[in-house]
Amino acid sequence: MLSAEKVSKSFGGFQALNGCSIEIGAQSITGIIGPNGAGKSTLFNIVGGLILPDSGAITIQGKSIAGLRPDELAKAGLVRTFQISRELGQLTVLENMLLASSGLSGESVWHNFWSPTRVRSEQQQAIAKARGLLEQVNLWQFANEPAKNLSGGQKKLLEISRALMLDPKIILLDEPTAGVSPLMTKALGETITKLRADGLTFAIIEHDMDVIAKLCNPIYVLAEGRTLTSGSFREVVANRDVMHAYLGKVS
Ligand SMILES: Nc1ncnc2c1ncn2[C@@H]1O[C@H](COP(=O)(O)OP(=O)(O)OP(=O)(O)O)[C@@H](O)[C@H]1O
Ligand SMILES: [Mg+2]
Repeated sequence: MLSAEKVSKSFGGFQALNGCSIEIGAQSITGIIGPNGAGKSTLFNIVGGLILPDSGAITIQGKSIAGLRPDELAKAGLVRTFQISRELGQLTVLENMLLASSGLSGESVWHNFWSPTRVRSEQQQAIAKARGLLEQVNLWQFANEPAKNLSGGQKKLLEISRALMLDPKIILLDEPTAGVSPLMTKALGETITKLRADGLTFAIIEHDMDVIAKLCNPIYVLAEGRTLTSGSFREVVANRDVMHAYLGKVS
């Protein structure tokens, strides 16, 4: 479904990615692990259109997506989730959802002038869609609360719900369970599993090995900007190079 091939990126002489390749199969929950600084987030930032690679190819279903902006990628079916920033925290949960569905004609004053009925009906549709998505993750009851009042786990569910407003095929999640309670981590895992059963594809960067073991297959291990190995959880933990990559970091 999505392929990144031999992607390289350096920041002022420091090689963050050095010929890194991954394949994300349709309807998979692909895990990406590796020591701190391995280049995982950089890979997501490149695939998600936030930064350009120095070299390498990125394709969705065989079509190049190199150089596309995040909004163009969303149209191609790929969405990277973002943390609820301080500014977005001031907005209500529902407003956060509606903000995601950009491209509605309501943004154009011209359309408001000529076709207020159409704008209103599009807004109503967006609200109905947001409601359906928020209900699925038990957040509708907080629709009018500022997003900053949600717990860490609820914020992550809102991030995923916000991505779903764009009808993606592939969602990229960077450390979804960081700072999330065990109970909400379980809820998050269930949501992701259910969405996958509905046809979605996920790529997840994660440090929590329980989450990786339960949710992800295959798993890619990145180290020093490269793909060290990939396979099932059992396969990658049995790999000596993987152990060295992690222990080498500790010592
Ligand atoms: N914009 C940037 N400018 C300079 N260096 C950067 C930039 N982004 C990342 N790096 C460096 O590139 C390397 C890889 O960073 P990256 O954030 O991709 O690692 P990571 O695998 O996501 O690590 P972690 O598990 O800690 O999140 C790090 O050494 C980091 O300091
Ligand atoms: Mg990171």
